[in-house]
Amino acid sequence: MMGMNTQPGDALLEIRDLRTHFFTDDGVVKAVDGVSFSVPRGKTFALVGESGCGKSVTAFSILRLLPMPPARIVSGSIHLDGRDLLGLSPGQMRQVRGGQVGMIFQEPMSSLNPVFTCGSQIAEAVMLHARTSAREARRRAIDLLAKVGIPEPAQRFGEYPHQLSGGMRQRVMIAMALSCSPRLLIADEPTTALDVTTQAQILDLLGDLQERENLGILLITHDLAVVAQTAHVVGVMYASKIVELTSAADLFSRALHPYTQGLFRSLPRLGVRGRRLETLGGSVPNPLNFPTGCKFHPRCATARMVARTMNESDTVVVTTETGPVRVPARCASQEPPLRQEQPGHSVACWHARAADQADAPPAEEEQQ
Ligand SMILES: Nc1ncnc2c1ncn2[C@@H]1O[C@H](COP(=O)(O)OP(=O)(O)O)[C@@H](O)[C@H]1O
Ligand SMILES: [Mg+2]
Repeated sequence: MMGMNTQPGDALLEIRDLRTHFFTDDGVVKAVDGVSFSVPRGKTFALVGESGCGKSVTAFSILRLLPMPPARIVSGSIHLDGRDLLGLSPGQMRQVRGGQVGMIFQEPMSSLNPVFTCGSQIAEAVMLHARTSAREARRRAIDLLAKVGIPEPAQRFGEYPHQLSGGMRQRVMIAMALSCSPRLLIADEPTTALDVTTQAQILDLLGDLQERENLGILLITHDLAVVAQTAHVVGVMYASKIVELTSAADLFSRALHPYTQGLFRSLPRLGVRGRRLETLGGSVPNPLNFPTGCKFHPRCATARMVARTMNESDTVVVTTETGPVRVPARCASQEPPLRQEQPGHSVACWHARAADQADAPPAEEEQQ
């Protein structure tokens, strides 16, 4: 018998082989294409990657908030607390949203109604899921405002969204998301619109709430600095797939995928104000026109480095946004599966070992 902790289904949220495609006039946009991960109870799983790689579509698939059509979840499973969400009716799904699952997004202004006070919107959310009197809902709303660190909550109850700062509005959104004591919070770029100081305060708040309420959090961000502050487990997403999956500690001490290494190298260094020393060349490919083989090969510093050590017959020259580059033939023709490279650390790269041994040289040297 396996131990309790290793039983499948033990995670709070478990996603297996999720594929969400958009059927458009221009073709099939495979926005999420075979994504698997789980969010442990009371812990934060961060999904990180550049804009356009499929993070939000993943979140919206879980919540079933995508326009269908054109979107369709063509395969996979999503289990919350062992219950298959894809098998639920729209009505049951509404109960899950704002019930067991709370959600917050980048721009709280678009989720808050400008014509109602913040307090009444939270009270409304409370009453939607629990049979309480208006008076009891108001009391709960004030408690929630206090819980998310809003000073003088009874007074703030009567204020309108536009009267609050961006940080305070995001706190109101968090209060609303917590109104039904969810087990899972989905936060899609929750601090992207905020200045760095406010961002840190909101991330601290989420950490505190997680501890107090044993909240599992799916945190979506393009920002590795946010991941560093919050995550226990990390999935790095590139071109509709997870390309690296491991603990946060592991990722920050030894990223194995050349893409992840590129993300780290393009972080502004401390002390060099706003200056990006080395950036990832090129951009995220359009899902209607994904490269063959490994979708990262046109941008991959490791592929170029490895190709220089190979027989020319085992390599090919490919055209990229930044000009022709020589890469291993396999990188250009076969997609690498996500496989365990080290205990608990999975990578989708044919040359993860090479990437591990020599962190790739700076971008300037490669592009000749
Ligand atoms: N309604 C839609 N119709 C067609 N394509 C879409 C739609 N919504 C998103 N996409 C595409 O899905 C891909 C992933 O988008 P998204 O999940 O929003 O990226 P991220 O959140 O990582 O920035 C993008 O290529 C985007 O253009
Ligand atoms: Mg997004």
